[in-house]
Amino acid sequence: MYDNMSKIIIIAIDGFSSTGKSTIAKLIAKKYNYIYVDSGAMYRAVTLFAKENNFVGNDFLDTKQLIFNLKQISLSFKFNESLGFSEMYLNNKNVEKEIRSLEISQLVSKVSAISEVRKKLVSEQQLMGLDKGIVMDGRDIGTVVFPKAELKLFMTASADKRALRRYKELTERGDNVQFDDILFNVQERDKLDSTREDSPLVKAKNAIEFDNSNMEIREQFEKICDLVDRIVSDKT
Ligand code: DC
Repeated sequence: MYDNMSKIIIIAIDGFSSTGKSTIAKLIAKKYNYIYVDSGAMYRAVTLFAKENNFVGNDFLDTKQLIFNLKQISLSFKFNESLGFSEMYLNNKNVEKEIRSLEISQLVSKVSAISEVRKKLVSEQQLMGLDKGIVMDGRDIGTVVFPKAELKLFMTASADKRALRRYKELTERGDNVQFDDILFNVQERDKLDSTREDSPLVKAKNAIEFDNSNMEIREQFEKICDLVDRIVSDKT
């Protein structure tokens, strides 16, 4: 565990879906005793709310109603001691399992393209980073949420590798899904997330790119820790 809390920074990790951002972010947060925030979980929770209220479905999106009801949405993260990371709560209900389903993955890019949704979530995310000491992953963290983050990473990997990771994750927890559907979803989300008008997924100018198609977690972790240590020692 890192013990000099006076040298705290913000670490922004952006990239395509299923590039292992959250796995790396959790490890980094644990090592430096930082807060970890999965911003994608927040977009997924808003999507779950929209789905439960019939504001979004496979072939429709009621943007007006969703925007009108945004104030009904309360999002919070609660630390789960036994898992060692925080879980997403929507209006005080743990929604970790529901938000990771393929159904929510198929709707989330539509909901996260709505500017009013982004505005609400970005301001909540910025509040969480006020004291620094935070690792946040997502799509617009280094570009919009924390443009002044001391360390920005951009993760990529081939679509096939990413779909396979996601397929394993979902089947291991018992979901009945087909690999081709996952691959299609990964590619669709890449397209939608990168081409939307508001805060598209782009690599921040000063972000360091990691293609982890063929890189083990341990190797990435060590490289990132080197970067953090260098920045932190430069600040002294
Ligand atoms: O990280 P994830 O795959 O769980 O994110 C789910 C979706 O949420 C992703 O396809 C796009 C959206 N998202 C976003 O628009 N901005 C973020 N900062 C994080 C996620």
